[in-house]
Amino acid sequence: MIIKNQKELKILREGGKKLAAILNEIAHHAVAGVSARELDALAEKLILKAGGKPSFKGYRTDNVLTSYPASLCVSINDEVVHGLPTDKVLKNGDVVGLDIGMWYKGLCTDTALTVLVGSGTNKLIEATKKSLEIGIAQISAGAHVGDIGFAIQNFLEKENFGVVRELVGHGVGRAVHEDPEIPNFGKKGTGAELVEGMVIALEPMATDGSPKVKISPDCWTWVTRDGSRAAHFEHTVAVTKDGAEILTQL
Ligand code: MF3
Ligand code: CO
Ligand code: CO
Repeated sequence: MIIKNQKELKILREGGKKLAAILNEIAHHAVAGVSARELDALAEKLILKAGGKPSFKGYRTDNVLTSYPASLCVSINDEVVHGLPTDKVLKNGDVVGLDIGMWYKGLCTDTALTVLVGSGTNKLIEATKKSLEIGIAQISAGAHVGDIGFAIQNFLEKENFGVVRELVGHGVGRAVHEDPEIPNFGKKGTGAELVEGMVIALEPMATDGSPKVKISPDCWTWVTRDGSRAAHFEHTVAVTKDGAEILTQL
């Protein structure tokens, strides 16, 4: 388990705030007629302008041969996470997950949100957003990873949404993904104990159908097996003595 020192926390705070502003601006551009590729280009431009570097571009996992080619993940409707930004154009009513990560002064933060293209509201999006807040509310030194998962799962399942299990939150900062894993399901009092100075990314993913997901033929994009829509929200947070400090907020 990795504990960040005060100097690192200061940098993560600075980078996280900048990343939140960048994601906010991208979200405002997620309107009908815009392509995922255009949003990715905007993401890269804003990251470089902020003095950062995209942390997803070039990222590799053991099970995928190619490295991730973009700065932003754009996951539309049945796409859950890690959607490759293609020339696909957004249309009204689309549920669009936007996930972004940035290296800044040697450390990285990670944040995501989901928008409904056009006007109106969407219960799946609202509930997933709330589940992230509920998860964050469980955090304090001495709490367990399972407390977070339990709270998120309990809330989403009561609302009749599916909780994705194949993908989890994670430690973050010196690498894009660090220990421990932070599942969005679990039992209170189980799993790793949270310690002051840990920096973790919580990222609930919920569906309006079955929670089962699979990887699509592009080898990156996760999609729901039954074609139901999915939403995803993520914050990078620092564990404090009696709570959590959200680093990726405006
Ligand atoms: N942002 C993702 C996460 O929240 C990781 C994306 S890695 C990529 O953990 F290569 F798929 F972009
Ligand atoms: Co992310
Ligand atoms: Co993440």
